[in-house]
Amino acid sequence: MSEAAIPSDRALRDAALRVLADNRRGDATVPSPGLYPHQWLWDSAFVAMGLAAHDPGAAAAELLSLRRGQWDNGMLPHIIFSDTPDYWEGPDFWRSREVTGSPSGVDTSAITQPPVVTIAAETVAGRLPAEEGRHFLESVYPMLLRYHAWIYRERVRSSGLAVIVHPWETGLDNSPPWMELMKRAPGAPVGMFLERVGLGRLNTKRRGDTRKVPLEERQTNVETLRTKALAERYRSWGYDSGVILARSKVVVESVDFNSILVRANRALDAIAEALDRRLPDDLAAAMQKTEQALESLWDDESEEYFSRDFRTQAPMRTSSVVTFMPLYAGTCSAERARSLVAKLNDPRRYATPYPVPSAPLDSPYFSDRRYWQGPTWMNMNHFIAEGLRGAGYLDEAATIERSTVDLVRRSGFREYYSPLTGEGLGAGDFSWTAALVLEHLAE
Ligand code: GLC
Repeated sequence: MSEAAIPSDRALRDAALRVLADNRRGDATVPSPGLYPHQWLWDSAFVAMGLAAHDPGAAAAELLSLRRGQWDNGMLPHIIFSDTPDYWEGPDFWRSREVTGSPSGVDTSAITQPPVVTIAAETVAGRLPAEEGRHFLESVYPMLLRYHAWIYRERVRSSGLAVIVHPWETGLDNSPPWMELMKRAPGAPVGMFLERVGLGRLNTKRRGDTRKVPLEERQTNVETLRTKALAERYRSWGYDSGVILARSKVVVESVDFNSILVRANRALDAIAEALDRRLPDDLAAAMQKTEQALESLWDDESEEYFSRDFRTQAPMRTSSVVTFMPLYAGTCSAERARSLVAKLNDPRRYATPYPVPSAPLDSPYFSDRRYWQGPTWMNMNHFIAEGLRGAGYLDEAATIERSTVDLVRRSGFREYYSPLTGEGLGAGDFSWTAALVLEHLAE
């Protein structure tokens, strides 16, 4: 979409639906055919949310298609691989089929992503005719219950907060606080050596992603070497949560994952109620605890929320967009909400021409083009706008939604955008951007 042709709401809606139709493979939608030709967990949830108002049947099928990837222990993996061979961390990298309890007949990754799926299921059911809605919930509930039970059994410890163990589990792959933490995780030795002696271009050459998107818009080679090596270490431990939690240096009580979990828990509760079921008592009690524990991630000194390093129990004091996520959870006090809104409106921090940047302007990590270290992402804007609305900041929510739609009108359905110039970056024809724009237009 060129800057010259500014599409109307209707043209934008049609174009968004076209992107989603083109990216659909059977019941599942791929995030972007070139760069991401498989199914990603939270991407599918965003797609279902956006499609709910337009084609609730397709949205329901999208969520139900995730069942085929569920592990015996209940985990929903962050990627379900299609037969398309073209991916650099594909089935040969994860080798899920070698692990007991992985689903049969399908290759998947072996870590998860934030549980937006449960929130999407509640939204989709609300858009289906009553009888179909109930039928859909009957079909999807067992998967969701097993998933939440897995999160609570394998990932929630005494604090009441869930831990995640890899930056890819946040969905914000190279977000600054995680990249700070990852400095303690060794990268593949040969690759790190090449970087040290100035031969990094050999690492770049071996990457699949940078063949499709310029390196400056993706994570750095060093970040990639570390994140890949961490996943490989987990593979050597059989992806066993017990071993990972005992041995890994990268275990995080993440503010974003837990904020989404709080909303997902409430959705699970509502779904159970709609089906006249009762959640198991111990699960219901543990879910309640997460809600209370989330506020312990507030840092009085800087008046921000930070994720917490589970090992050291120290706050990960590197600012990023996830500080706004407890607004979405709806747990923060009026005073804390006010302080967050002040940050959003601060031109030295988050008030850029095309908000909301994934890292603040005053962060040493900030780059307007580099992936999760500055660019504006539609899904974060969705969470923030919803959170603001819930906290009573209706004008601020509407402003973000408007600027989000304008950004897409101007620069197309891109993966992310420069918060300074509005330029579209990363992958093109990006599904969740199309889906979340549909959601705004539907409102
Ligand atoms: C990138 C994003 C992640 C997303 C995936 C597929 O890895 O960081 O959040 O799920 O792409 O779109």
